[in-house]
Amino acid sequence: MTQIDRVHVPLGARAYDVVIGQGLVAQAGALMQPFLARPRVAVLTESRVAGLHLENLQAGLSAQGIASSAHALTPGEGTKSWDGLRESVEWLLDEKVERRDVVVALGGGVIGDLGGFAAAILRRGVRFVQVPTSLLAQVDSSVGGKTGINTRHGKNLVGAFHQPSLVLADIDLLDSLPKRDFLAGYGEVVKYGLLGDAAFFEWLEVNGPALARGDKSARHYAVRRSVEMKAGIVARDETEQGERALLNLGHTFCHALEAATGYCDRLLHGEGVAIGCALAFEVSARMGLCAQETPSRVRAHLRAMGMATDLADIAGDLPDAAALVALMAQDKKVQDGRLRFILAREIGQAFVCDDVPGDLLLSVLSEALAARP
Ligand code: GLY
Repeated sequence: MTQIDRVHVPLGARAYDVVIGQGLVAQAGALMQPFLARPRVAVLTESRVAGLHLENLQAGLSAQGIASSAHALTPGEGTKSWDGLRESVEWLLDEKVERRDVVVALGGGVIGDLGGFAAAILRRGVRFVQVPTSLLAQVDSSVGGKTGINTRHGKNLVGAFHQPSLVLADIDLLDSLPKRDFLAGYGEVVKYGLLGDAAFFEWLEVNGPALARGDKSARHYAVRRSVEMKAGIVARDETEQGERALLNLGHTFCHALEAATGYCDRLLHGEGVAIGCALAFEVSARMGLCAQETPSRVRAHLRAMGMATDLADIAGDLPDAAALVALMAQDKKVQDGRLRFILAREIGQAFVCDDVPGDLLLSVLSEALAARP
C-alpha cells in the first residue's frame, strides 16, 4: 500500500482536503462517496485526458455503485472561453445536474478553471471535485478556488472564487505527461521554494532531477509540500487581499511574455513562470535586496532541470523592453496604475513591491533580450 496524504485547506464552511497519493483515481468512488447526496456525478473533461484516464475514473466510481456521465471538451486554452463555458453549463443542465449534485473536473488547469466556474454559476453554485491531471494543476490551479475563463481582453478576467469540495492529486497521472508539460508544471513547484521555503528549494536542487525522471516518492513529496504551502497561504488570504499575491512570483513577467508570444505553445505558462522567477530575482539583486549571486543560483537549478530559464529560451521574435513593460501594465494585478512585482530578500523570502524603478526594469529586460541569439 503506497502512502496517501491529506492536506487540509481550513476555510471554515468551505474547508476541504487535497488527497495526494498513487492509485487515487481507482479509488475515486470511495473517496467521493461522502460528498454525494445521490450516487451519480457529471464529469467534465477534455478529449485527450478522457482517452487516458476517463475509463479508470468511471470504473473507480462504479466500483462504489456511483453512476457517471462525461462530456469531453476540445483540449487547449481556447476552450477556457465563453463558448467553452456555455457548452459546459448547457451539458450539465442537459444532464439534469441538481443543486445538491457534484460536478467532477478531470483535467489540467483549463478544465479545472472552466469546470469550477461552470459549477460556481450552475443553479447559483453546485459543489465540485477536482481531479487534476497535470503537475501544474496538482500543485497550483486545483487548490484555492480560483475559477474562470479568458476573454478577448485577457486571461482569467471573468471568474469566481469557488472552492472545490475535494481534490484528488493522483501522482500516477503524471506518468502520462509529455516531458515539456511536466517541466512547465515544475516551474510552479520551484516557485513555492523560491517564495517561502528555502529548505524546500535546497531539497529540489538535490532531488529535482530524480523527480523529473519519474521517482514517485520524490514526486509525492514535491506535490505535498507545494500543496501544503498553497493551502496555508489560501487559508490566511482566500481572496488575495495580501499574502496570496506572493503566489504570483514570476507572474508579472510571465503574463507579459505570454501576451507577447500569443498564448501559444511557443511558451507554456509554467515556462513563463520559471523565466519570470529568474527575472524577479535579477531585479531583486539589482535593487540590492538579495545577494548578487542568488539569481545565478536560481538559474543554475532551472538549467540543471533542462527548463526554460532565460528570454533566450523563447523561440522567435520578442518585442523590445519598453513594449514588454507596456504589456505588464495591462496585467490585472496593476493597482492604481502601479506595476506590482513579487521580489525577494533571499530564496524563500518573497514580498510584494510596488516601486520597482522603471529604468532598472528596462535595463534588466534589455540585457536579457540582448543575450538572445
Ligand atoms: N495561482 C495563483 C493563486 O491561486 O492565487
